[in-house]
Amino acid sequence: EVLIAATPEEAAQFAAEAVLEGLQTRTEGHNVLGVATGSTPLGLYGELAKAVKNGEADFSNTIAFALDEYVGLESTHKQSYRQTLIQELCKVIGLPEANLNTPNGFGDSEEQIRKQAAAYDAAIVAAGVDVQILGIGTNGHIGFNEPGSSLRSRSRIKRLSNKTREDNARFFDGIDQVPTHSVTQGLGTILEARRVVLIATGSNKAEAIATALEGPLSSACPGSAVQLHPDAVIVLDEAAAAGL
Ligand code: GLP
Repeated sequence: EVLIAATPEEAAQFAAEAVLEGLQTRTEGHNVLGVATGSTPLGLYGELAKAVKNGEADFSNTIAFALDEYVGLESTHKQSYRQTLIQELCKVIGLPEANLNTPNGFGDSEEQIRKQAAAYDAAIVAAGVDVQILGIGTNGHIGFNEPGSSLRSRSRIKRLSNKTREDNARFFDGIDQVPTHSVTQGLGTILEARRVVLIATGSNKAEAIATALEGPLSSACPGSAVQLHPDAVIVLDEAAAAGL
């Protein structure tokens, strides 16, 4: 389902509705929400916070799993996705920090990080994600599944493309500080969520969105993996939809 909103603010409202609706379908146990970093979902998180204030939502018992994390940053590092999500998600929607799971990209060896990624994947499978929130990179990546990611990939270490490191340099003191690798949920892992809600706004996402939604299913555009999902809600503003 592709929803085109007039503005980024309206896109955030549509996305919040899709997320809340998806969470309501769980019949037992705690809700499990897959969460994303990036600037795009911030409006959505603001809308979820409004729903909490109105008494329409409550995330105090929700379990969250993040999509990805940088390799080489401790979980206490300011630019780690764990700290970013604590600030931009947990504090905003009232999700306890202890309920936030993030990949661990810090370790003594590649082997150790690889094992941590496999354990993270197993924890996601065991929990079962109700709704996975997604953004999209300008090169079509989702999570940190860069172009060339297998459509069936599991959580693993992934090298960041130059384009992604350039795009994310704004959060660091220069591109040299941006880690070269990440741990990301795989495309196969993401596709196991019962619903995915992908949000994209702004003209810089128009090309990636057109390729992901109307191009061939291809590892060259990891975002195209959403074509395989039986309950994918894609929420765009007019600028991001311009290439459709
Ligand atoms: C990062 C994240 C992605 C996110 C993308 C787009 O690289 N790993 O999950 O979708 O950036 O971010 P933004 O929404 O800021 O454009």
